[in-house]
Amino acid sequence: MRSDMLFGITEEAFSSFLLQANRRTLAETIRFFFEADDQTIEELRAWAGKARDKMYGKRVFFRALIEFSSWCKNDCYYCGLQRSNQNAVRYRLSDDEIISCCRTAYERGIRTFVLQSGEDPSYSDFRLCRLITEIKEQFPDSAVTLSVGERSPDSYQRLFDAGADRYLLRHESANEDHYRKLHPPTQRLCDRKRCLFHLKEIGYEVGTGFMVDSPDQTNETLADDFIFLRELKPDMIGIGPFIPHHDTRFAGYEFPSAKHTLILLSLIRVMLPGVLLPATTALAAADDRGFEKGLMAGANVLMPNASPLKHRDAYALYDHKPNEGKGTIEQWHQWVHWVESLGLQPDFSRGDSKMKQMDGER
Ligand code: 5AD
Repeated sequence: MRSDMLFGITEEAFSSFLLQANRRTLAETIRFFFEADDQTIEELRAWAGKARDKMYGKRVFFRALIEFSSWCKNDCYYCGLQRSNQNAVRYRLSDDEIISCCRTAYERGIRTFVLQSGEDPSYSDFRLCRLITEIKEQFPDSAVTLSVGERSPDSYQRLFDAGADRYLLRHESANEDHYRKLHPPTQRLCDRKRCLFHLKEIGYEVGTGFMVDSPDQTNETLADDFIFLRELKPDMIGIGPFIPHHDTRFAGYEFPSAKHTLILLSLIRVMLPGVLLPATTALAAADDRGFEKGLMAGANVLMPNASPLKHRDAYALYDHKPNEGKGTIEQWHQWVHWVESLGLQPDFSRGDSKMKQMDGER
């Protein structure tokens, strides 16, 4: 990839280039932008903005994030909630507490609740189905998103039948060797992928994603991530910088900047314009202006933290996670003003994805 190749081409032409590029070309393109000057990155951002506007206009969607259990049976090497972290503070919310979080968000106009937890076996299908049914009864015009990890196809089907609309499960890395560097041998990339395809087949709107600058990530493993995203065609793609947690084997890694995440957000937006792209909390943790910069790079979703304040510190996936102030449900009014001040339009509808329109086979 050479810089003069970019002059005069439209964002559509660049989009088809990204959709067709092989692994090597994708890796070269990613490196090109990682090393590019500010003006070139600005050009990429402008393309991403155009692509987003064509699919979604200036709208920015809100999802309330409810972190309902910090118990986890897995041992992802990068995550502060990994089972072997004896220092992690563990909590579980009751159904009533979860519903009360939904109500707070609902009263502020939010119509999507994201229920996220570690892989906590105490939330059986029965219990989750009962909870989803209750939420749907009380807030019928809302979408329920689950983010509770790998489960069996039957379980995914039951949760869907109970009313769950969407499911978030990041693939973390689409490269086998890299996935193994980040996870113990009991966790396998093929299982993760299988779950994602099952979820899609059942009819969920599916979100996946990965951390940026995670240990041993290269431009080539990122190219594998792009190829996997092209194959899965998820409705939502969550990416954010890897931030070391002090109780993990990766504690000594450098605190990241937002730079690579912002470039990848723009590239993903141009490659798959119909996808929902959050400006994530990790991005805001890495950069004080992370949310703004994410939206300007092509993101169009914000996920205010709506968990009970007293438990937020315990849901510590990484260090320096912002639990108060910007990015929380309490800062509601500021969010709205601040999205408007960027020339964007806060949207409180369910905000379904446009991927289906682009993906003829579905
Ligand atoms: N830094 C950034 N993101 C992390 N996650 C887990 N640990 C970290 C970390 N140290 C992300 C993973 C997971 C999501 C819920 O949080 O990608 O899928």
